[in-house]
Amino acid sequence: MPKAYVFTRYGGPETEALVEVDRPVPGPGQILVAVRAAGVNPVDWKQRTGYRRPGESGERDFPAVLGNEVSGIVEETGEGVEGFAVGDEVFGTALTGGYAEYTLLPVAIAAHKPAELSFTDAATLPVAAATAYDGVRQLDLPSGATLLVTGAGGGVGAAAVQIARSLGLRVVGVASEGKKDFVESLGAVHVPSGPGWAARARAAAPDGLDGVYDLVGADVLTEAVELLADRTKLITAGAPESDVQRLGGARVTRARNAAVLEAVAQLVIDGDLNPHVTATFPLTEAGEALRTVEDGHARGKVVIEVAR
Ligand SMILES: NC(=O)c1ccc[n+]([C@@H]2O[C@H](COP(=O)([O-])OP(=O)(O)OC[C@H]3O[C@@H](n4cnc5c(N)ncnc54)[C@H](OP(=O)(O)O)[C@@H]3O)[C@@H](O)[C@H]2O)c1
Repeated sequence: MPKAYVFTRYGGPETEALVEVDRPVPGPGQILVAVRAAGVNPVDWKQRTGYRRPGESGERDFPAVLGNEVSGIVEETGEGVEGFAVGDEVFGTALTGGYAEYTLLPVAIAAHKPAELSFTDAATLPVAAATAYDGVRQLDLPSGATLLVTGAGGGVGAAAVQIARSLGLRVVGVASEGKKDFVESLGAVHVPSGPGWAARARAAAPDGLDGVYDLVGADVLTEAVELLADRTKLITAGAPESDVQRLGGARVTRARNAAVLEAVAQLVIDGDLNPHVTATFPLTEAGEALRTVEDGHARGKVVIEVAR
């Protein structure tokens, strides 16, 4: 039986286990994928603690496979699937968990993996890069405007900085001192995080900030809004809707479609977006991979590579 890294109930890391599971069966509009790589994201451990995405309903079946984004090879197609065939190399949003030898992708949120992209890089696009892309587009700032990104050295932040730069924006990236070189290499002006960061950000953008893409939430979000003349130009992926609405901003609206996956893949091919995979782990070490992200200070992206 195929292996998967699961959580057996809501809770902490003690609920996780590498187990054997049934191979999922694709339903209408779904493809069964032999996973080659799975991106690791904060939402993975949040789901383990009981978090449900806005609009998600129904009971979760246990054991539940961790992970939300994968790349791999189509093994089987469900009823009504067009445009995907057995043997195709694909990437997308995993319906039945990503840290697994097999998963299901709904074709509406799946795309063909361009040959130029590695499986490892492609697995980072459906959640982190696509969220970065959706948010930068939502802000809709003109070329030459200045965007502040908090959490600029993390998975979404590093992609958001690069996508904004490719659109001709000036970017101020807030991140810990240890990520200075990394954030600068992405094309941003680095501002050290921690107490006093907002004053440092103000000094780094003497002509003012035109937008904020927050990936941290809490106090950082509250301080960030004070830097903006137009509060509607505050968006977050890292805080609940209620927190950001109270401040006059908005949560990033996720497109979750194939067109965005194709667009971010094209950015990688064009050299405008480097996924910056900084750590890879085999499926047998999926727990260590998740701890790296759960620590809250990941640099770029962490990926689980599934041996074949
Ligand atoms: N709505 C959606 O669809 C969606 C999609 C993707 C992600 N998200 C959310 O967006 C957030 C960021 O995701 P991610 O994948 O980029 O996470 P990540 O890779 O863990 O990066 C988060 C970054 O935040 C920084 N950070 C942590 N605590 C901080 C603090 N107190 N002050 C300043 N910076 C701090 C860390 O940088 P330093 O090490 O420099 O402190 C880290 O690099 C998460 O909450 C995630 O759940 C939402």
